[in-house]
Amino acid sequence: MTTLTIARPDDWHLHLRDGAMMQAVLPHSARDFARAIIMPNLVPPVVTSAQAAAYRDRIMAALPEGMDFTPLMTLYLTEDTDPDDVAAAHASGLVKAVKLYPAGATTNSASGVANFDKVRPTLDRMAAIGLPLCVHGEVTDHDVDIFDREAVFIDRVLDPIRRATPGLRVVMEHITTRNAVDYARAQGDTLGATITTHHLVINRNHILAGGIKPHYYCLPVAKREEHRLALRAAATSGEGRFFLGTDSAPHTDANKLLPCGCAGCFTAPNTMPILAQVFEEEDALTHLEGFTSRNGPAFYGLPVNTDTMTLTKTPPQVPSHVETDDGPVTVFDPGYPLLWSVT
Ligand code: NCD
Ligand code: ZN
Repeated sequence: MTTLTIARPDDWHLHLRDGAMMQAVLPHSARDFARAIIMPNLVPPVVTSAQAAAYRDRIMAALPEGMDFTPLMTLYLTEDTDPDDVAAAHASGLVKAVKLYPAGATTNSASGVANFDKVRPTLDRMAAIGLPLCVHGEVTDHDVDIFDREAVFIDRVLDPIRRATPGLRVVMEHITTRNAVDYARAQGDTLGATITTHHLVINRNHILAGGIKPHYYCLPVAKREEHRLALRAAATSGEGRFFLGTDSAPHTDANKLLPCGCAGCFTAPNTMPILAQVFEEEDALTHLEGFTSRNGPAFYGLPVNTDTMTLTKTPPQVPSHVETDDGPVTVFDPGYPLLWSVT
């Protein structure tokens, strides 16, 4: 196969940031993706419906003329979140999900949830109205090894939340372990799971072997090879519960290359070429459209995009950096030449 036409993809987990950074990175997502679930971890976070509406307006104002892109807004869940505000934001169509960050789990998550009992009224309301909860699934306990934090979260936090609020629709975001794949597969259709581009490509050796590689450091951190293989099998399986959430998370090189550097891989510019290659390697190109364009809308109850994307087997032009007024941002390097272009 040398050309492939699929329904235009969506990105079910994206960091667009704000200001100069957003201006520079937004066109890279909007070129390939029709819609994206926009993460609310700005400083300060997007907590209220009014903040989400203002953020959506800033995104639309930054969108270059002629580009077709719809941001699907989210609210950042805090212990003070007002269930009525969440329900109104859902009813108006503004907000498509609520995001749960355990307090301190990742970039800009200080306002996240520490006491899960405090958010129970909001979760119950979300279950009643069918509004999904997007979950950053890592515990933050200092006594839990960073490579175990996702697996421990499933047992200690995720499963109890789902049992306490039956019917709550949950997206396990950016899963990185065989444990998460196995858990997701054992659940009913109220559970979906997103997988990033980079977790299909790198394992923890890419970050740590032969010198430390800050551009491969993201959260949840990439795990052992056996977990990467489980993720590749899940993503390319054709199973409807798995769909693309790139977690493209731009940080300037100055902020990545520090003694305490930021977590995040910037994959918006080359996600589709990388995915086409991964699916081809797994002999699963026929399942690419499900993963990037069909399974996500099905979970969120949205229509599949009617426009299409054509991929052609010809090496793509991918910049190594994107320039921003805050400084350059390095594009994720899969470590091998890419074979497929978006045409
Ligand atoms: C994200 C970011 O930079 O906002 N970083 C990351 O490594 N993925 C936060 C997140 O999604 O955990
Ligand atoms: Zn993220």
